[in-house]
Amino acid sequence: MMSSSDLVVQTEKLAKTFRVGFWGKKVTAVDGLTLDVRRGEVFGFLGPNGAGKTTTLKMLMGLIHPTSGRASIFGHPVGDLAAKARLGFLPESPYFYDYLTSREFLKFYGHLFGLRGAALEKRVDELLELVGMTTARDLQLRKFSKGMLQRVGIAQALINDPSLVVLDEPMSGLDPIGRKEVRDLILRLKEAGKTVLFSSHILHDAELLCDRVAMILKGRLVACGEVTDLVERGTTQYVEMVIDRLLPERLAHMRPLAERVVQQGERVMVVLSSQQHVDEALEIVRVSRAKLVSLTPHRASLEELFIREATGAHRPVETHV
Ligand SMILES: Nc1ncnc2c1ncn2[C@@H]1O[C@H](COP(=O)(O)OP(=O)(O)OP(=O)(O)O)[C@@H](O)[C@H]1O
Ligand SMILES: [Mg+2]
Repeated sequence: MMSSSDLVVQTEKLAKTFRVGFWGKKVTAVDGLTLDVRRGEVFGFLGPNGAGKTTTLKMLMGLIHPTSGRASIFGHPVGDLAAKARLGFLPESPYFYDYLTSREFLKFYGHLFGLRGAALEKRVDELLELVGMTTARDLQLRKFSKGMLQRVGIAQALINDPSLVVLDEPMSGLDPIGRKEVRDLILRLKEAGKTVLFSSHILHDAELLCDRVAMILKGRLVACGEVTDLVERGTTQYVEMVIDRLLPERLAHMRPLAERVVQQGERVMVVLSSQQHVDEALEIVRVSRAKLVSLTPHRASLEELFIREATGAHRPVETHV
């Protein structure tokens, strides 16, 4: 049973409208968002550019005020000191003081949280170790790669040993190695018992990392749940068979089972829309002494769900031979 103390973040019909330009035209960035993040999970907050991710996270941080609705962190209204004390945040475009070393940079943030002396030194050294920056601790930040900066940024978000770590696009702009380093770091935080909420439009990373994800579009929640549940719900699962030398009369038997049939000379590709017809199709191949070249089950990905929701397309997936 989930008790309310297991809910780290709760939002209820959270909304934010900005007024822009001379005429004060309304832009709805977040539109009635209700979701929760549970203790100890890695939660992915996904959506395309302009979906409202940063605006939502800023409201959770107490940096901007909601137009309507409510949000709480550890049961405290957002913006409360009690909520802030247990929070760590990496903004989307953090500002780094170029001429500071990573050690000086972290000490600066430690000071802001009231850390001093030996306790501060110890905390900074632990964090540099955690993010794999010990050897570069006395290097100025201007000499850092984007991946290194991002890791120092995450270390900064951890200075107060928060229970909830919120990261806005921690993997964007990083190469595959940098992304893996950040992913590993997030997993280490989870192992240390922290709750991690991060936004991303890199779905592959979210699939690898998250216990649950929420997908938002134009400020609205379009899907929320475990990754496996989401990709199975409503997205196409299909099986692709490639067969050589299937006689035309046998192919005629195959057609009613198939979602799609693509012929190319002697070779035919048959797409079965469900696992159900696989045995029947294999039997046709066997009795006709045709040659089965491949049988490939396709699992839908988060990417497919994302595109489907974003474009409103509800077609079966396209396949190519
Ligand atoms: N301060 C602001 N004033 C006016 N409009 C804003 C402001 N901040 C955000 N918006 C608008 O709100 C919408 C959501 O923006 P937001 O930055 O939250 O999206 P996002 O999901 O973080 O996008 P990205 O992936 O590009 O970071 C956009 O249409 C944006 O232009
Ligand atoms: Mg953003």
